[in-house]
Amino acid sequence: MASRFGVTAGGVVSTFDKLGRPLRDLRLSVIDQCNFRCTYCMPRETFGADYPFLASSERMSFEQILKLAKAFTLLGVEKIRITGGEPLLRRGLESLIEQLAKLTTASGKPVELALTTNGSLLAAKARSLRDAGLGRVTVSLDAVEDAVFRRMSDVDMSVARILDGIEAARAVGLEPIKVNSVIERGVNESQILPLVRQFRGTGVAVRFIEYMDVGGAGGWSNTKVMTAREIRGIVESEFPLVPVVVREQSGTAVNYLHADGAGEVGFIASVSQPFCGSCSRARVSADGQLYSCLFATHGTDLRPWLTDTATAGQLAERVRSRWTQRDDRYSELRSTQRKPASGKVYPTVRMSLVGG
Ligand code: GTP
Ligand code: 5AD
Ligand code: SF4
Ligand code: SF4
Repeated sequence: MASRFGVTAGGVVSTFDKLGRPLRDLRLSVIDQCNFRCTYCMPRETFGADYPFLASSERMSFEQILKLAKAFTLLGVEKIRITGGEPLLRRGLESLIEQLAKLTTASGKPVELALTTNGSLLAAKARSLRDAGLGRVTVSLDAVEDAVFRRMSDVDMSVARILDGIEAARAVGLEPIKVNSVIERGVNESQILPLVRQFRGTGVAVRFIEYMDVGGAGGWSNTKVMTAREIRGIVESEFPLVPVVVREQSGTAVNYLHADGAGEVGFIASVSQPFCGSCSRARVSADGQLYSCLFATHGTDLRPWLTDTATAGQLAERVRSRWTQRDDRYSELRSTQRKPASGKVYPTVRMSLVGG
């Protein structure tokens, strides 16, 4: 049995939380703004022209982000995902990626570096991102029909622009590419089969996500959730699927293969079949707050450890002491209808601050 933190028998550095889950993934938000207004994430009524987004002076500098990422690798992080808002809106992101790409895990392997984007700026940036050392991209796309895409993303843009971005990413080798599609009942379930048709046989894996009641979304109701099971039923009405036998360790998706060999389709059942039991993800917002869960109500302020006088080791100690106290499993508790022990209900952090 591994100690609560430290080096395990296999030589892998691990930091375990109260439920025995190691810290393996860091989701790093570099900006809380976005050029889309997806109704399930940043509805325009809430995120209008006067919304108090972080000022650039409130965001961590690239030096601070690098120190932070280094500290997380000391604790066992193997994978860093850059998120937003829309991360490609952060000016000069390539120079940060260049530095992050040099990081190694505690056991000396290169850190896996991925980025989640809405794809709108990907055609222009794919090559420079790849050249800077980015490993792969995940693109959010909820429709292939323009009218549905515009309704859901609330942006005046064509789907062709996102598809061009995906193609540019493929052409420069930012692979394996994944497309994430949130399905909201009554809004875009008509797009399930078109999305599968669009990407089967291209090497791009589509993953369908259940609509979650994340912070900032508003308007969520149980009736709008299409379960992964329902979505898979629709996919299988046209395309037979076979389960992938080995599930990704601490992954979010349950993956299937097209029976005819045309690639992979995944299902992220965050609502109907939560995966908190293997959740090894820490999230840090662009202003240096550490969140131990997507549905956390409070963050831990890491800024005092991001000053010039504090070392990455000291920062790592702070994160370690927080992670060892972690017992979050929001989605599991919610699915069993158990309420948190404390009577008071706080709003959960908005999705656009912690990047999904
Ligand atoms: P891969 O490394 O490509 O498998 O990515 P990932 O599954 O780690 O992350 P990705 O950004 O692709 O996550 C896809 C979506 O799953 C997110 O946008 C969220 O909607 C959801 N998701 C990711 N992590 C969590 C989590 O810890 N809890 C919950 N409830 N949902 C999550
Ligand atoms: N439910 C599920 N997924 C969401 N995302 C944003 N809001 C929600 C929500 N309410 C996901 C998007 C994108 C990522 C940034 O977060 O699909 O892939
Ligand atoms: Fe922007 Fe992504 Fe949120 Fe849509 S889901 S508003 S693209 S951050
Ligand atoms: Fe992890 Fe929280 Fe999501 Fe559960 S609800 S998988 S603990 S982020």
